[in-house]
Amino acid sequence: MVSAYDANEQSSLKAAALENLWMHNTDWTQTAEEGGPTIIVSGQGARVTDSEGRTWLDVHGGYASVNAGYGRSEIADAMLAQMQALTYFPQGTTTEPLIRLVEKLGTMLPGDLERVWPVTGGSEANETSIKIARAYHKKRGEPGRYKVISRKGSYHGATAGVMWLGGGKGLSDYEPAPAGMVYAPQPNPSRCELGGATPTECASRCAQAVEDLILFHGPKTVAALIAEPITSAGGAIVPGDEYWPMVRDICDRHGVLLIADEVVCGFGRTGKMFASEHWDLVPDLMTIGKGLTSSYLPMAASVATTRVADVFTGQDNIFRQALTFGGHPVTAAVALKNIEIIERDGLVENSAKVGEYFLSRLHELKERHDVVGDVRGKGLLLGIDLVADAETGGNEDKSTGFGKRLTAKLREQGLLLKCGDNAVSMGPPLCITRQDVDEIVDGLDRALGEL
Ligand SMILES: Cc1ncc(COP(=O)(O)O)c(C=O)c1O
Repeated sequence: MVSAYDANEQSSLKAAALENLWMHNTDWTQTAEEGGPTIIVSGQGARVTDSEGRTWLDVHGGYASVNAGYGRSEIADAMLAQMQALTYFPQGTTTEPLIRLVEKLGTMLPGDLERVWPVTGGSEANETSIKIARAYHKKRGEPGRYKVISRKGSYHGATAGVMWLGGGKGLSDYEPAPAGMVYAPQPNPSRCELGGATPTECASRCAQAVEDLILFHGPKTVAALIAEPITSAGGAIVPGDEYWPMVRDICDRHGVLLIADEVVCGFGRTGKMFASEHWDLVPDLMTIGKGLTSSYLPMAASVATTRVADVFTGQDNIFRQALTFGGHPVTAAVALKNIEIIERDGLVENSAKVGEYFLSRLHELKERHDVVGDVRGKGLLLGIDLVADAETGGNEDKSTGFGKRLTAKLREQGLLLKCGDNAVSMGPPLCITRQDVDEIVDGLDRALGEL
């Protein structure tokens, strides 16, 4: 355990951060006004401690990525052992932990998703999946298929290509967008863009909209559809049960590859090892990340089915891509140990069980607070839909500052959770207990009440 830093150390660390660090989605002048960044120095289970000695419950588990929880010394041991044996050697050759990892993944992943291209983060993994999808069509004699369908409001990463998926707000600084970005509706039963009154109606209308878009653009121009089985951005959007079977069938009929982004959903997050399993979905490509190593070290991957991967056999046919850190042996050793812990400690089952309790307690918030329009999710990927107008359920998707105020109220109670104005997404470590859930929901209850 790291002890609290003294006042001098703290202020010099904060000053250095304010001087030199460019933090995620944050402006340093604002951070300075708030007294400098919170500096986290240690973690155990679902809790982290900052440089002032204050302990926080990490409601979003890093970026919904610390599945095994903090402070697993077994992972540190695995890391050290691999570092002492071999710190690094690039692809082309390979290493034992990486071979063992991809072999293990091949046995865990749905269907014949068996060919693993390892990278260092979810954005890179999605870039890779899209490149594979486009190249797959070219190699099969359909060079016109380059468009990629994503769903409005989804997030698939921040790098120059994939940031355009989902058509998120605030991208205009980075224009122009690449060609071929096509946006389908989000199958959100809480506020169905196509007017579906029930989850079933919303699911079938939104799935049909995918087919309509493919037909409108011309099937021979569409390479892939990319989607999370359960959308993590915007508060854990679970589509009606009809959605995935319909979308799988539509993609098959039109030769469009289906890429499941399981960067958040994978490794137990939704109460199954992979969220695709909720609907027996076997995508053509799957991207995994975050929970693959529980964020102990950076690793992600694009995984292809045998049918897709086999198009790349033969020396003239290879998938051309090399990334210096892709498949790093130390990271692979960490991923293996992390998966061992997730399986051994029953974290997928805990995610399902505690997640069910969590959702039932969130329903209490819906009863008690008008601003809560809906609560939803599966396992420990959970969300709260916030409404600006309780009468109509209206939510104009605009900035109200509510999320910031809610975030601050939660911090007063030792809960770390960044809230949006329209939705709150939660993805705690999968080792949380019912008592932790009570602490979170009671804290939310108080914060919403005060606001
Ligand atoms: C669904 C999804 N896909 C991809 C990414 C990108 O992953 P990374 O931040 O590791 O690049 C994220 C990140 O939050 C994500 O939520």
